[in-house]
Amino acid sequence: MASGKFITFEGIDGAGKSTHIGFVADLLCKHGLKVVTTREPGGTELGETLREVLLHQKMHLETEAMLMFAARREHLAQVIEPALARGDWVISDRFTDATFAYQGGGRKLPLAKLEALEQWVHPHLQPDLTLLFDVPLEVARTRLDATRTLDKFEQEKADFFAATRAEYLRRAAQFPERFQVVDATKTIAEVRQALAHIVSSLCAG
Ligand code: TYD
Repeated sequence: MASGKFITFEGIDGAGKSTHIGFVADLLCKHGLKVVTTREPGGTELGETLREVLLHQKMHLETEAMLMFAARREHLAQVIEPALARGDWVISDRFTDATFAYQGGGRKLPLAKLEALEQWVHPHLQPDLTLLFDVPLEVARTRLDATRTLDKFEQEKADFFAATRAEYLRRAAQFPERFQVVDATKTIAEVRQALAHIVSSLCAG
């Protein structure tokens, strides 16, 4: 009987989630589990093409939301659903909560429209665990790598990220059974300790 679980990593740009994905993947491997690590938008050839467009081209905000879900549809069909069906564990760097936070919170698209797309694309699947890396905006800003060109989202203003963060936190409160909010202002070692604790309870459950 397949028993793979689906873990998503979320947080505003600069929260530091990417630093911890490899750590969690290694922990799961040490528990003897097979792990597929992937990301959104992206994770498939078509999804990575859509990512390029989404991160660098201006477009209507509804087009943006629909392309996020189009990339996700492909990602689910080609990567996430087959892996879970095999019994593998899947770690995705962002998933649908990011669309609610960025397109719903940040861009203020009505949440009902996003819920309709979610119902269409994955009516029955939700992550088993969503790790929300939470930091105040000022901290996130200082962590964005100043040496590279910022993408379309990273160039947004503080009020966009305040609304994005607020929507993430609202969802964490709405779905406490799957969300774990990680205080990402802590040191890497402290965050890892918290992650190790969360992951071992998930493996035991
Ligand atoms: P991110 O995951 O932060 O990658 P990197 O660490 O390489 O910068 O970048 C993806 C960007 O896409 C991020 O700014 C959030 C945005 N995004 C949305 O706006 N909506 C979505 O549904 C998803 C998945 C991502």
